[in-house]
Amino acid sequence: MELLNHDVLIVGGGGAGLRAAIAIGEANADLSVGVVSKVYPMRSHTVSAEGGSAAVIKSNDSLDAHIYDTISGADWLADQDAVESFVNEAPAEMIQLEHWGCPWSRDADGSVAVRPFGGMKIERTWFAADKTGFHMLHTLFQTALKYNNITRYDEWFVTRLLTHDGRCQGVAALELRTGQIRPIAAKAVILCTGGGGRIFPFTTNAAIKSGDGMALAYRAGVALKDMEFVQYHPTGLPGTGILITEASRGEGGILLNKDGYRYLQDYDLGEPLDVSDPSHPRKRTMELGPRDRLSQAFMKEREKGLTLEGPYGDYVCLDLRHMGEKKIDKKIPFVRELCRNYVGIDPVHELVPVRPVVHYMMGGVHTNINGETPLAGLFAAGECACVSINGANRLGSNSLTELLVFGARAARAAVRFSARQDSVAVEEIQAQCQAEQQRIRDRFFQPKGGKETIAGLRAELTRTMESGAGIYRTEDSLRAACALIGQLKERFREVELADHSLTFNTELTAALELEFMIDASEAVAHSALMRTESRGSHQRTDYPQRDDERFLKHSLAYQTENDPRIEYLDVVVTRWPPAERKYGSPVDGKGGKGD
Ligand code: FUM
Repeated sequence: MELLNHDVLIVGGGGAGLRAAIAIGEANADLSVGVVSKVYPMRSHTVSAEGGSAAVIKSNDSLDAHIYDTISGADWLADQDAVESFVNEAPAEMIQLEHWGCPWSRDADGSVAVRPFGGMKIERTWFAADKTGFHMLHTLFQTALKYNNITRYDEWFVTRLLTHDGRCQGVAALELRTGQIRPIAAKAVILCTGGGGRIFPFTTNAAIKSGDGMALAYRAGVALKDMEFVQYHPTGLPGTGILITEASRGEGGILLNKDGYRYLQDYDLGEPLDVSDPSHPRKRTMELGPRDRLSQAFMKEREKGLTLEGPYGDYVCLDLRHMGEKKIDKKIPFVRELCRNYVGIDPVHELVPVRPVVHYMMGGVHTNINGETPLAGLFAAGECACVSINGANRLGSNSLTELLVFGARAARAAVRFSARQDSVAVEEIQAQCQAEQQRIRDRFFQPKGGKETIAGLRAELTRTMESGAGIYRTEDSLRAACALIGQLKERFREVELADHSLTFNTELTAALELEFMIDASEAVAHSALMRTESRGSHQRTDYPQRDDERFLKHSLAYQTENDPRIEYLDVVVTRWPPAERKYGSPVDGKGGKGD
């Protein structure tokens, strides 16, 4: 088996992966870098990000204000040292992207334009119309092309991490074109595979987001941190789950229930509740409350019978009509395009049907502030990692910036690590890869006589996650989900593929992805069951209060032969002691109720 070999191997060719690859090129252009991606990099999910990327740039803003918004938005579960590094390094990363060619939208005076975004008390979200992810990924991709030391493995799918002597030393990867499982050795491996929103039935996430990197690390003995925190975005298109960006609300869109009433004024979004004064700031900001609170408000409206019924479930309406055609076309042209193409309506004249949709996983592979996991030689960055800066609820527009800051940080740490390694254990790596090839053949290509199908199991899994671990959870719903996931794991053993071909066998990749999804789901459901409090996106109706005494802690889920083992780790608090989560009035920089 021919061995491919690199100093650093990056798994994932989206925003975090490409930023990491460039950072290695910047650090030492002689180092050999491999980038493995199961899709062509420009098809990575980063491309579909719309609304923007947060960083302090305007003189009315401050680093402390961004830090505080992120920590309070996270319901105090974020590590404050990580948030401080993130916010401090964000502006330079964003300016760097500009120098590499990212076409940030501009104000009339030529300065970078910023827009309001959910949970941010000050306008600090940079954007490129409402195709920010496309422009950022394009910029990173073309910049990465400058470096001759980067080798891309497009359409290769990593199925296993190869470890030896307590160190990650490479991966086994399925070359989709040939069907061969190939070993790729590396002194350091960085996982940048994105999240796993596809474990839910209704999501903004691309079909490729099946929790691969999370499951790879979990199987290699690394904990998955804070997996119970799953973010619903309040405005997805019913049916497809396509994102209608928060920028549409940032630019003035409002949410209406079935009576045409702006229902958010009836809910506590963490703001002062007296809104009788029409000039009260809340009149402008209520649609920009934190995502968890907005999604929960939708559920309450539904309970009251105030949502509308449609062929794809219940929904409310986003009203953009008052913005007018000119502003819609200038600021959110993609929203208009999506509404026309996927719902057949024009938001200039009609209401847009929307409902909460799974959007982001705050949890992921347990890393420190440099992207290092507890497994030597293994690093992670981006949505698949949990550093953690997002805690119990990520603020919109922090994640694109996170890709840049932590993609670069993980790369620099991986460069330092690889410089300390002499070599990799070639024979061991090759033998493990052969074993992986055998496992896949035995598992999927041998007759099992079973009746289980990939589509059937996947549908059951996603339904189970929605009913058991959705916006609201209880002990009963979570216990039922954990039990069902256990059964699905068993039943998955009976899956047999009809297609035994080698070239682009999409049935095989679907099976491997489903196996990853089951692992990620198990970590979500069990972590959620054990967290007997409500915080951010994790709302237990049987434990409605936040409980800092017992749960100002990260959960760590470890894979075992049976159910995962859940341990806890203290949250890092630097300058902002836990306080009531408030939103909508100026920050005092100290935290607490005064914000
Ligand atoms: O609504 C949006 O454009 C989403 C942005 C984000 O999740 O950061």
